Amino acid sequence: MVCSLVLILSIVPRASASLKVDFYKTSCPSAEAIVRRAVNRAVSLNRGIAAGLIRMHFHDCFVRGCDGSVLLESTPSERDHPANNPSLRGFEVIDEEKAQIEAECPHTVSCADILAFAARDSANKVGGIKYEVPAGRRDGRVSIREEASQLPRPTANAQELIRDFEKKGLSADEMVTLSGAHSIGVSHCSSFSDSLYSFNTTFPQDPSMDPKFAASLKTKCPPPLSDNTVVLEASTPNRLDNNYYLLLDMSRS
Ligand code: HEM
Ligand SMILES: *[C@@H]1O[C@H](CO)[C@@H](O)[C@H](O)[C@H]1NC(C)=O
Repeated sequence: MVCSLVLILSIVPRASASLKVDFYKTSCPSAEAIVRRAVNRAVSLNRGIAAGLIRMHFHDCFVRGCDGSVLLESTPSERDHPANNPSLRGFEVIDEEKAQIEAECPHTVSCADILAFAARDSANKVGGIKYEVPAGRRDGRVSIREEASQLPRPTANAQELIRDFEKKGLSADEMVTLSGAHSIGVSHCSSFSDSLYSFNTTFPQDPSMDPKFAASLKTKCPPPLSDNTVVLEASTPNRLDNNYYLLLDMSRS
């Protein structure tokens, strides 16, 4: 069983809508351990999967709440939106975890919770960050491609980002804190090449960009279109740490 199939998503409804740490303690005691083992194995083989799973959880939560909607395959779903396709990665890890958990405790653990656990375990594996995940999310059955346009766009300025997050009940502080996830992972050139080559009719290159940084990105992302990827934080690209903020601070002035 996989999280991408709409029909197998129905799980026994419960009355309470509030989330709890250790939610599956009696109903599926091994659920969190199964996720942790699978994440550790997948991330050992490919560090980039940690970044993929953290971003996937964010993209799930930003559209219709943390309901697993980013995992669904319908025609066409959030997964098909350019914000997610082809850049989201790690779906196979979630599917594997779901299959193992279903074998142990059928129709009990939601895909949305599995994704939340997997993001936490990723942050632990590549950043040593520990936090508890209250669980009990219900999986949604609806996923609509166009709704993924609510996700913050790479061309957005600070005001737009603050507004995007505000619409989801998140403060500017929380937006900045969450953006620290860009301490790991990569970006496809296509996500920012407009800022380098076709900003507007007057400026091919975004005049607000640091020219040296833009020049270095251009060598990694030659025109017109490149499938290359560039690491988001070059000093410790595989470690979830605070270098994202330190580098930003140094690039000011
Ligand atoms: C503040 C607004 C945000 C914008 C505009 C943004 C935009 C982007 C873009 C354009 C990419 C590159 C995608 C690609 O081309 O492959 C990316 C990657 C990534 N983002 Fe964000 N993001 C934002 C917030 C967040 C948040 C809140 C998180 C998680 C808490 C997050 C986690 C990540 C991670 C981990 C990657 C690397 C993914 C990988 O290597 O597979 N981002 N983001
Ligand atoms: C192009 O962008 C610059 C900088 O943001 C802005 O000042 C200018 O008005 C824009 N020009 C056009 C034609 O949109």
